Amino acid sequence: MASSSVAIEVIGLCKTYDNFTAVKDLSLNVQSGEIFGLLGPNGAGKSTTLRILITTLKPTSGRATILGHDVVTEADTVRQLIGYVPQERAIDRFLTGREHLLLLGDLYHLPKEEAVKRIQELLKLVDLEDHADRVAKTYSGGMKRKLDIACGLLPNPKILFLDEPTLGLDVQSRLNVWDYVRRLRDQGMTIVMTTNYLDEADQLCDRIAIIDEGQIRITGSPKELKAGLGGDGISLTLGDADPAVCARLVEEIEKLPFIRSIRTHGQGLDIRVDAPEKALPALFEATSQVGCRLDGIEYHRPRLDDVFVTYTGHSIDDQSTSLTSDTAG
Ligand SMILES: Nc1ncnc2c1ncn2[C@@H]1O[C@H](COP(=O)(O)OP(=O)(O)O)[C@@H](O)[C@H]1O
Ligand SMILES: [Mg+2]
Repeated sequence: MASSSVAIEVIGLCKTYDNFTAVKDLSLNVQSGEIFGLLGPNGAGKSTTLRILITTLKPTSGRATILGHDVVTEADTVRQLIGYVPQERAIDRFLTGREHLLLLGDLYHLPKEEAVKRIQELLKLVDLEDHADRVAKTYSGGMKRKLDIACGLLPNPKILFLDEPTLGLDVQSRLNVWDYVRRLRDQGMTIVMTTNYLDEADQLCDRIAIIDEGQIRITGSPKELKAGLGGDGISLTLGDADPAVCARLVEEIEKLPFIRSIRTHGQGLDIRVDAPEKALPALFEATSQVGCRLDGIEYHRPRLDDVFVTYTGHSIDDQSTSLTSDTAG
């Protein structure tokens, strides 16, 4: 029952800062017990959305409910249901890890004995037991993030919000954070997180919403989004940087029957095809026909970055120019 109930409902949410609209008509549902990810580049509106949901920012219009409670009119109730791990950490430099948590326990009015017991459990969960009584300013980035997560979990929330939980962490610390988040989900907690890491969204989240320029482009499980693209990807690395030759090649490829879309970028072309066994020889022929040198070729099954490009028209790190032509109609 819990697995199919709606934990968060967002309808037509908008947020305008002065003259700038950061979130535009955003609607989504989060199911109880899932890890839901908001995936998007810097400035997409992820933190703004999260801050509205945790009641620290008022929406300009639209509404959102957390377990049935309105984030504006029932903000006090909502606050008792949620935990929050902010994007920017607020670790005080002169307190130990344990002291941070005890101070927070005071703020939440937890009875001292209960707080002490709970803090010990949380320190264990995030592997900070051995460092709990060290001043937190001496912690590594990964350890500070673990302490942030323990802070978010202290009120024993029904729903945990994590803003970019692994931003800037080394590989091992990222994997540890993923592991905690999965463990919490497996214990029945609902998790909402933001990320601009494609692999994190792909491997950690049960469902994601791709957000770009304040708008949701598509929502679904990573698996169904990838499968929904249909077709496979072929990347050509071109040795000829001449834009005119490149444009001619795109023209030739667009005429081929099993091509779904073509996108040019600095080093070459990303092409989606229906039948790679037919597409590959035809692509070789087209490149030689226009006199374009081929420096590399890569073939792959649909990936989450392909999903991102398909629904936003650009890659998540914005390094490449977008020229998407959908020839499949
Ligand atoms: N307090 C603010 N005043 C004005 N603009 C803001 C404010 N906070 C965020 N923005 C702008 O809103 C957009 C979305 O920001 P944010 O929600 O932080 O994006 P993300 O978390 O996806 O990087 C950005 O262009 C940002 O510059
Ligand atoms: Mg942010």
